Amino acid sequence: MVGNHRQDKPVIRAGMIGLGMIFDETYRPFFEQVRTSDLYRREFGVVGVELAAVATRTGQRAEAYRQSAGNRIGPFVSIHGHDAAEQLCRLDVDAMCVATPDDRHYAAARAALQAGKHVLIEKPSVLRLEQLAELDRLAREQKVLAKVVYHKLLDPDHKKLRTHVADGILRHVNSGYCSLLEPKQISMSQFSEWVQGRNPGTYVAVHYVKLIDFTFFHGTPARLKMVTATGQRGLVGPPEGPTWDSVQLRMVYAYPDGREAGFDIHTSWVNPDNFPGYVEQEVQFRFDNGVWNAHQRKRGVEVCVEGMSPNPIKMTPNHHYNGTFLEPWGERSQRGYGIEAIQRFFEEVAEVEFGGPPSEREQRLERVRLLHYNDLSADWNTVATVHAMEAVLAHHKEGRSGGVVQIEEGRLTLWLPGSGHTETLYEPQTGL
Ligand SMILES: NC(=O)c1ccc[n+]([C@@H]2O[C@H](COP(=O)([O-])OP(=O)(O)OC[C@H]3O[C@@H](n4cnc5c(N)ncnc54)[C@H](O)[C@@H]3O)[C@@H](O)[C@H]2O)c1
Repeated sequence: MVGNHRQDKPVIRAGMIGLGMIFDETYRPFFEQVRTSDLYRREFGVVGVELAAVATRTGQRAEAYRQSAGNRIGPFVSIHGHDAAEQLCRLDVDAMCVATPDDRHYAAARAALQAGKHVLIEKPSVLRLEQLAELDRLAREQKVLAKVVYHKLLDPDHKKLRTHVADGILRHVNSGYCSLLEPKQISMSQFSEWVQGRNPGTYVAVHYVKLIDFTFFHGTPARLKMVTATGQRGLVGPPEGPTWDSVQLRMVYAYPDGREAGFDIHTSWVNPDNFPGYVEQEVQFRFDNGVWNAHQRKRGVEVCVEGMSPNPIKMTPNHHYNGTFLEPWGERSQRGYGIEAIQRFFEEVAEVEFGGPPSEREQRLERVRLLHYNDLSADWNTVATVHAMEAVLAHHKEGRSGGVVQIEEGRLTLWLPGSGHTETLYEPQTGL
């Protein structure tokens, strides 16, 4: 049983691995708010959450945060260095949040699960299916939660899309496109430490891979059948190098009657820095009986301030994801679905640990694991797509472009058209 008890209430002690951009946008406001408001639900009552310890590469961001936050946050331990995540796992924390660069999620999450901590991982959970299987196995063995953040599933527009699909209003998706374009400053400044060898498809296409998989196919007999990708290089790194400027990904699902649904997801992290909305994001999904168009930033607000637009005041802002507000009752707040996704995880931990008698903890754990929107056990199609895309891009870099990955009974096979080359990327383990 994890969970620390103070005199007046139980407390979840949180550890944070990685203190970068996403920490600042979503975890930081959550930890600062929950410090004064606590969590509350009838099932578990009042539960406190404390940011108890952080692990970073150099320790500098932790110290800068400690200074700037002042008394908005309580005392926390800061650990840095290459084994900081492993060291953090030896401390008295109950739940660990992993927000390191995407190719460093697995080691940190595995160390946390091995130490018996509940785990929340930023998207994409991991890059390879065998890593996903191992984390899921460890979570079951240690009887803790292993969850992943895909906050687009909590966007009210996407919730409405899914509601229409679930209610049979929008029927049988056939095809669609999504685009998500990040500004150059992301790849060339914010991520300069780890961007070499990486691609924007893994970084952001996963938002839409998950949205498509969860909204249209989760719990249906349709299956992920094929993944392919191409991309461009030359801006973030040399044209022949392993670092990608932009990626176009295609995924195909097959329905049992032989019909197929195809989706194209275009991503980039070399969009101009002065783009009016900072990040460009739009989707179109086509159904047997309808079409859904949505734009993440053109939701009605257009604003321009001399000397302040497009930065820091964006011209077509998305206030639903994360915004700072003066509430009508005079309070200053920061809220949005990006922060809500973090709060939900801690509520799920509170439900498992404090939502009833200890003798029924395993039933509560199983119930919370069935929340497939964020459980690692339901992330197979998304990780399979990332695994396939990374393999196709790796061959492309070696001059073998046009690779296609077919998915059949849990096996991923890469084909290189014209070369006769095939390669098994993943073979399911028995019992998984
Ligand atoms: N949900 C979203 O919309 C969203 C948005 C941005 C980023 N992310 C995800 O969050 C993760 C981090 O992205 P970011 O934008 O915050 O990156 P960032 O580069 O701004 O920060 C990375 C942080 O990880 C730390 N770090 C790096 N290697 C480490 C290690 N081995 N051990 C401990 N700490 C280490 C760094 O010190 C830094 O604090 C990525 O997985 C990314 O995909 C999600």
